[in-house]
Amino acid sequence: MSESTQPPWWKGATIYQIYPRSFADSNGDGIGDLNGVLRHLDHLQHLGVDALWLSPIFRSPMADAGYDISDYCDIDPLFGSLEDIDRLIAEAHARGMRLLLDFVPNHTSDQHPWFVESRSSRDNPKRDWYIWRDEPNNWRAALNAGSAWSWDEHTQQYYLHLFLPEQPDLNWRNPQVVEAMHDVLRFWLDRGIDGFRVDVIHCTGKEPSFADDPRCLAGQPLVEFNDQPYSHEVLRGLRRLVDSYPGERVLVGEVNIRSTERVLQYYGASDELHMSFNFQPLDAPWEPVMFRTCIRDVETLLKPADAWPTWVLSNHDNHRQRSRYHGSLRSAQAAAVLLLTLRGTPFIFQGEELGLEDALITPETQVDPGGRDGCRAPIPWLAAPPHGWEGDEPWLPFPPESDELAAERQRHAPGSTLELYRRLIEARKRSPALLHGDWEELPSHPNVLAYRRQLGEDQRVVCLNFADEPHAFPINGHWRIEIASDAQGEDETYAGELAAGQALILSPEEH
Ligand code: GLC
Ligand code: CA
Repeated sequence: MSESTQPPWWKGATIYQIYPRSFADSNGDGIGDLNGVLRHLDHLQHLGVDALWLSPIFRSPMADAGYDISDYCDIDPLFGSLEDIDRLIAEAHARGMRLLLDFVPNHTSDQHPWFVESRSSRDNPKRDWYIWRDEPNNWRAALNAGSAWSWDEHTQQYYLHLFLPEQPDLNWRNPQVVEAMHDVLRFWLDRGIDGFRVDVIHCTGKEPSFADDPRCLAGQPLVEFNDQPYSHEVLRGLRRLVDSYPGERVLVGEVNIRSTERVLQYYGASDELHMSFNFQPLDAPWEPVMFRTCIRDVETLLKPADAWPTWVLSNHDNHRQRSRYHGSLRSAQAAAVLLLTLRGTPFIFQGEELGLEDALITPETQVDPGGRDGCRAPIPWLAAPPHGWEGDEPWLPFPPESDELAAERQRHAPGSTLELYRRLIEARKRSPALLHGDWEELPSHPNVLAYRRQLGEDQRVVCLNFADEPHAFPINGHWRIEIASDAQGEDETYAGELAAGQALILSPEEH
């Protein structure tokens, strides 16, 4: 980065994912909504995040919790109205926060008027907006849906769906589809939306011969590896459109392939994604070898200035990190230090800042066909039940320890996870090194991960102890503990040792 050019806002941002169904309910029907988000903007401002990404809020029959869209340009009544989103855009902007929406280009709902037309007859003008074949191949759908092809009795052909049968895949090779979907983006960009999280963008291009894929034989769904040149063409079109708007609108893409090398391709030559999720840390156990490998991978591969990394430890599709770390709050807190000090843009999934675990889901409370309900549990705002969810019971049970972990209880409570996240975000903002600096690994014991971030004169050292016993980590010079994951020893001189499971940000001691 040259000193004279200002980096785009999203390189210095902390982005917060809202899963609206579970964030906050404003009308007592047990389902979170846009006015619920509006009511809790204080929490987000207190936390210090720079942008919000809302999971889908569009009209939907909710077969896949809103990722099956029947109208891209309207809000589902469950979540509110267009007036509500306009108010939210204005209010977020007034508080200095940007707002990103979820754009789902790969598939619509089977109730979308486009698909209703497409399936009405073989010679309907929209027939070719979706992917119809006489014979299925062996591709498998995600979300335990079996074959990726469903038979349409009426027109005697199969249609493709890489997810549920209620989510038919669009045919992006049809220029009318491209135009219609670009219109969707224009609709929201014109309303003031600052960008989009782009759902499974790597799936939009399909292998043109529709040949069987040997990997599907083992039961793996195609979405885990579909990686076709045509997806890049789709993406370049989206990027051109978004870049034609003023104000640094951003595209962050979900490339759900567990390979940093493949993910890198989706940045293109600065003409595809501004940022791509890189999901390896989402599966990684709290273990030094795994994290070292993920981080080194990113640092060696995502080097070009325009392939800016992202860091994600949890989202609405995966177990929360604390649950993956066997319930250890200590590990989840140390992981927060990592998330907010690596080189790249961090994404926080709602409730992560409270140290929540997944809710316990029984067969009676299961909603999602993909079994992802645990991490989607409602946010406990108040300590006393119903935790700020007055009215009907929320659509999923609360996570464990909802009294102790409620937002109201953690606010201003020294040592709370919320305070840790808030202070980490604040520490990033005051350090150019943490925001934009280089990353350099420091030699350490195998159980300790340590690195230096540096930009010009500004520097920080971050060190994490993965072990259950204390570890020495000596460094030259005089350092002060700026932040400790367990809030121990802050503002004191660093003595060269990490407590069990502890993570620290060190800053040079002033003399
Ligand atoms: C993405 C979403 C997930 C959804 C799927 C289909 O992976 O994150 O929730 O089920 O796409 O749209
Ligand atoms: Ca509601």
